[in-house]
Amino acid sequence: MDHFGRTIDYLRISVTDRCNERCLYCMPEGYKGWERKPDHLTAEEILRVARVAAGMGFRKFRLTGGEPLVRADLTNIVRGMTALPGVEHVGISTNGTKLAALAQPLRDAGAGTVNVSLDALDPEVYGRVTGGDVKQVIAGIRAAVAAKFECVKLNAVLMRGVNEGEIWPLVLFAAEHGLPLRLIELMPITTTDVLTEKNFMSVEEAMALLRQKDELIPQPDWRLGFGPAKYYLLKHTGARVGFIGAMTNLHFCETCNKMRLTADGKLRPCLGDHGEIDLRDTLRHAPDDAAVRSLLQTALQRKPLEHSFRGSYQPCRPMTAIGG
Ligand code: 5AD
Ligand code: SF4
Repeated sequence: MDHFGRTIDYLRISVTDRCNERCLYCMPEGYKGWERKPDHLTAEEILRVARVAAGMGFRKFRLTGGEPLVRADLTNIVRGMTALPGVEHVGISTNGTKLAALAQPLRDAGAGTVNVSLDALDPEVYGRVTGGDVKQVIAGIRAAVAAKFECVKLNAVLMRGVNEGEIWPLVLFAAEHGLPLRLIELMPITTTDVLTEKNFMSVEEAMALLRQKDELIPQPDWRLGFGPAKYYLLKHTGARVGFIGAMTNLHFCETCNKMRLTADGKLRPCLGDHGEIDLRDTLRHAPDDAAVRSLLQTALQRKPLEHSFRGSYQPCRPMTAIGG
């Protein structure tokens, strides 16, 4: 439990800050602030943190990046993590571009769910948002469905005038494949050109847009995974759509259940708060797990009541390093 009575049992681990795409909302144009490779935690170090965290009551783990699938030892990390006592779930967040080849190995290694970023279906719009090839992602999604993950979710970040026209096609795609779609408000996580009032689209606006096409039936009891989305069933299309109103929902942080570990080994109690605690030094120099446990405990106690995105928060560390 943290200071505010929330049970924190979910650790999101960024395994790399590298990525093979360049999403408008994530990486500044010409981004050069990569961590040095030796600063990344090794697979052993990541597994050590997970083991200690599981011993303290963390039950759910998610591997993110950057793009976790660019890390060659990802399946080993997944296999090691799912084998740890106390670990109930290991999920992966990916841009999907490398999933076609890796879905089955990751599933075999024990990963339970994958969340795939899909901001547009139209190849041209997808390319403009991510710099990548949507065909690879669609192939990745199909491979993930074929590999029989417990759940494959689709994520789209809402950007007015950028992918607004893609929301309905994404809903139809989600319905057709029976996959939940989550629409996410743009957060000021890193300094990029899309972070403007003009581009920001609230989940309320997205809902209004969908209401012109279908009826939205609230599903307060749906818990698809462990995230903060509020789900609706679209009556006619049958799509399951979750809304993540990180910016406009004033109660967003009340149900927060997670902490983050950055690719370079810093514990980040909250995505939207600059507070960080270095764990890497301890991992590299303290043979005793008690020191690691104590830092995890300190990070828990430092979890703020809510994120500071609405206040004077200035993005400085890119999302790639923090872990989506
Ligand atoms: N705002 C909202 N969501 C973001 N993501 C990355 N950057 C941002 C941002 N600035 C989300 C993407 C990706 C996940 C890892 O994080 O949807 O799927
Ligand atoms: Fe890469 Fe994901 Fe960032 Fe896009 S959001 S640039 S896919 S890490």
